[in-house]
Amino acid sequence: MPVTTITTCPFDDQKPGTSGLRKKVKHFQQTHYLENFVQSIFASIGDVQGKTLVLGGDGRYYNKQAIQIILKMASANGFSRVLVGQNGILSTPAASVIIRKKQTFGGIILSASHNPGGPDEDFGIKYNTSNGGPAPEKITDAIYAKTKEISQYLISDNSSEIDLSQPGTHDLDGMTVEIIDSVHDYALLMHELFDFTAIRDMISQGFTLCFDAMHAVTGPYAVEILENQLGAAKGSVINGIPKEDFGGEHPDPNLVHAHHLAELMFSPQSPDFGAASDGDGDRNMIVGNNIFVTPSDSLAILTANAEHIPAYKGKILGVARSMPTSQASDQVAKKLGLDSYETPTGWKFFGNLMDADKVTLCGEESFGTGSSHIREKDGLWAVLFWLNILASRKESVADIVHKHWQEFGRNYYSRHDYEAIETKAANQVMANLREKVKNLSNTKIGSLTVSYSDDFCYTDPIDNSVSEHQGIRIGFTNGSRVIFRLSGTGTSGATLRIYYESYETNPDNMHQETQQALSELITLSVEVSDLKALTGRTEATVIT
Ligand code: G1P
Ligand code: ZN
Repeated sequence: MPVTTITTCPFDDQKPGTSGLRKKVKHFQQTHYLENFVQSIFASIGDVQGKTLVLGGDGRYYNKQAIQIILKMASANGFSRVLVGQNGILSTPAASVIIRKKQTFGGIILSASHNPGGPDEDFGIKYNTSNGGPAPEKITDAIYAKTKEISQYLISDNSSEIDLSQPGTHDLDGMTVEIIDSVHDYALLMHELFDFTAIRDMISQGFTLCFDAMHAVTGPYAVEILENQLGAAKGSVINGIPKEDFGGEHPDPNLVHAHHLAELMFSPQSPDFGAASDGDGDRNMIVGNNIFVTPSDSLAILTANAEHIPAYKGKILGVARSMPTSQASDQVAKKLGLDSYETPTGWKFFGNLMDADKVTLCGEESFGTGSSHIREKDGLWAVLFWLNILASRKESVADIVHKHWQEFGRNYYSRHDYEAIETKAANQVMANLREKVKNLSNTKIGSLTVSYSDDFCYTDPIDNSVSEHQGIRIGFTNGSRVIFRLSGTGTSGATLRIYYESYETNPDNMHQETQQALSELITLSVEVSDLKALTGRTEATVIT
């Protein structure tokens, strides 16, 4: 076999973050940079001889070039087969579906999620294991350890490129490369989970929707499922053709970045339902006519309404949310007698709970919702879950949300991001807070009394692994919370995230403007953290 062993030197910055390794494209294009990381993955996942790998990405700039390199390395390292999405396209949830369905050894997904794309923007790579979920920390730690000592990698010296544009089978030095339809298996699974007939009927009776694919990977998936299979009018999917630079925008489904959709949904021309997804298709934003549904509320509402979906009716084993996600789903779990779990930020922490049949639904405040149908969050799945509820309840999004608040209380919620802070200053903010919270219990801040404060540490109930320093929490006696965390996905400087939540059960107070309702928490958090003095910042960069 024409395998070449290339001598290389370690890079010192290949520690995977919240979701794989993300860097600027130019950083990835340095000689040996991508190859070192890929070889470190292959060296950390057990014997790969004769195994099958899934490979694809969100279509961003450098996706196709990286695929050609990884194919040559997979062949040289002994894989026998690689399933590649047509044109290199696989959404993160679709990759998870295929890994599980075809029972492959694992998969490599090329994505920097919602980060911008293009020659001067971001690229990313992550490894998913045979359960279809993100590699757990023990594997990402092993990968990182390898990157620090790597001295060589294996690559085929075959100079021909595999044609990714057509379904078909190719041979690469004895390894089979199968180019597969990117959408087919995913759409089939959605068909099994949801009542497509009910949704199609609702649409044929005049229900309207707009799905913003944000020039990213979900375009082909949404056109096939929403327009072709469910009969939504042509053009219901906007920005539906994946572009390498996402049209120069942030493919991040929130009211700030999905502003075309936001404007439409708050205008007199609003359709009945609006949604958006991110770069790699795992995030979702849900909007109704004149109402934005927070991701935390969305998780709670899906849990409370699972009985409307045949595949989930009576089958919810439990519900999990990441620590900074609002406690709205806890209220539902309590009432329905379901177990609820609080995990650190990042989808990888849900995997063990799902594999052990502890939870069915999971969610994060960062526009992520999903279930045990796969091991990733799933943007279009959440959209279909909502559409199925709407078809079954025959009420508007606003009515469903308002009734939910009446029944369970309203968790006002917002996240303030301070982006591209100097890393040293951001670390100082966290270090100071870490000291401060040791002595805050029972003290008063403004009109609020602290009930607990700590640096969140999680012990996985399945494998007992411990994850420390997962965010500073300050909880108050009235149920409000403020949480401080540094992002683990950014590529320049540090991003400080401050999460705010308050809980309201008085129906007269349920229709306040969110930032107004949280204003006392916002003021006190800026003071407690000495934000201005340490970072010079007075205003958040992005508020969601
Ligand atoms: C962010 C989100 C987190 C999500 C991750 C990957 O990570 O906050 O919930 O799992 O992206 O989509 P962070 O940048 O906060 O580390
Ligand atoms: Zn994503």
